[in-house]
Amino acid sequence: MVLTISQFNMKNAWKQPCLVAVTLLVGVTANSAIAQSIGEKTFKQQCAACHAVAADAPPGAGPNLRGIIGRDAGTLKGFAYSSEFKKALAGKQWTTELMQSWLEDPQDVAPGTYMLYKQGNEEIRKIIIDYLQLVN
Ligand code: HEC
Repeated sequence: MVLTISQFNMKNAWKQPCLVAVTLLVGVTANSAIAQSIGEKTFKQQCAACHAVAADAPPGAGPNLRGIIGRDAGTLKGFAYSSEFKKALAGKQWTTELMQSWLEDPQDVAPGTYMLYKQGNEEIRKIIIDYLQLVN
């Protein structure tokens, strides 16, 4: 009898972690799909007039932002950054924290920068930053 129970448990033991793994996978995929679509919409509203994010898309008024998180500021080839931007951000790398300050007020981070946009809503900034990380 003891043997039967342990055999039963052995046979079914794999099912539970498997189910948990599948549930987690579906959950994470669904969440990031939702985050991606909200992020994409918000990016389009807030940034796309000046920035592309598609791989190999040419710059608009601002540089292409694909892969921006982790990129050294002001280093996209073929884009003419303002000298104010280059001076203020020389040697800095884009982190989510730097991006939060930047979007809150670029003129505060790099006075005189060409980027004439700011976003006072932290939640909107976060949605956009999450999206930029997703498409990184
Ligand atoms: C009205 C146009 C405009 C809008 C809207 C705009 N930007 Fe910009 N952005 C610029 C310009 C122009 C620059 C170049 C700044 C310079 O050279 O001084 C820039 C630069 C940047 C950089 C620096 C990139 C690098 O290569 O280091 C980041 C990051 C950035 N913008 C993010 C955003 C995000 C995210 C949004 C939307 C929330 C946004 N911008 C909205 C015009 C804009």
